[in-house]
Amino acid sequence: MRSIINEKNLNNKKILLRLDLNVPLDKGKIIDTTRIDKILPTLDFLIRQKAKIIILSHVGRPRGKIVKELSLKPICEELQKKLKKKVKLISENIKEIINKKFFNNYNEDIFVLENIRFYSEEEQNDNKFAELISNLGDIYVNDAFSCSHRAHASIYEIPKFLPSFSGLQLNLEVNALNKITSEITRPITCVIGGSKISTKINVIKNLIPKFDNLIIVGGMANNFIEYFGNSVGKSIKEKNCDKIVEEIISLSKKEKCKIIYPEDVVVSKDLSGSPQKKELSEILTDEMILDIGPKTIEKITKIIDNSKTILWNGPAGYFENPNFAYGSIQIAKKIIENNKANKIYSVVGGGDTVSLLNNLNAVNEFNFVSTAGGAFLEYLEGKNLPGITALN
Ligand code: 3PG
Ligand code: MG
Repeated sequence: MRSIINEKNLNNKKILLRLDLNVPLDKGKIIDTTRIDKILPTLDFLIRQKAKIIILSHVGRPRGKIVKELSLKPICEELQKKLKKKVKLISENIKEIINKKFFNNYNEDIFVLENIRFYSEEEQNDNKFAELISNLGDIYVNDAFSCSHRAHASIYEIPKFLPSFSGLQLNLEVNALNKITSEITRPITCVIGGSKISTKINVIKNLIPKFDNLIIVGGMANNFIEYFGNSVGKSIKEKNCDKIVEEIISLSKKEKCKIIYPEDVVVSKDLSGSPQKKELSEILTDEMILDIGPKTIEKITKIIDNSKTILWNGPAGYFENPNFAYGSIQIAKKIIENNKANKIYSVVGGGDTVSLLNNLNAVNEFNFVSTAGGAFLEYLEGKNLPGITALN
């Protein structure tokens, strides 16, 4: 993997820069700018080198269609503010741009191509689509560690057509995670939550042999709660998961890794509703689980007290509504307390988790904070990430 930081002759070169500007948005407003802040050093470096920067990124999951609410426009404006430089959003159909001379029509040196996931070819990892985009630049840089677990065109295919380099943030994340995996001490506890169930549930199986405790909260926990015979009402959950849950449970017994899932919960009729504590047997069909309950919090904090290393990805509840942030906040507070007392080594990852910690003004209270969620877990699994493989 070659880092862009060692390249000197970038003057006037057109750099296709893949970033993860997938920041949490609420009605077009950015809720947390961490992912933007972290890549500013790469942009500053390229600006100093007098390169032309063409940014590729996705936000959200538009699934191959133009979704107005998932435009990169607000993110582009935020970049402009932070860099104090003009940033031009290109909304034209990328497939019609043809070649890099297009960018000579503008005075700006920094461009953002509209949400790359508006094109179905991106997630299909389409080789022709990647080739087309590669014609728009001279060099490719991946500074999107948090997307590097996706074998998508802008991550995996473009590097086949251009000299390709890693960005500064990607290097930082990979180095930090390498250090963590080699220096980790037991007992190790991993807390996995959040709402992206489908990809994470498969990751769990591979993490079991590496950890002593696996605490499952958030949307994924609903599959476990249901598996053990409780109704989860209208909570989010993944379909047809009984087999994988069964495998997870039997593997955890074999590997002596304790699986912990909620014993009690906080529910409501909708996301903006008021919270109500419930036993698992009491959840009604028109209710949804939105946080962990007090017994579960107590159990988790005890486990954290008995751990030497803690890895955390994904909030315990729908923290965007403060009514359902309590469980996540208690987990954060417990880790911070033990971190301050030097009793624990703590690593936190994921867009939402980092946003939660920013709300608490607590990002500096952990040993390492990764911008990556899914990529962070897959890296811990020991998997080769497609985005990293493509750079090697
Ligand atoms: C993330 O937020 O983890 C990355 O931006 C990847 O997004 P995805 O899970 O929708 O692929
Ligand atoms: Mg995310």
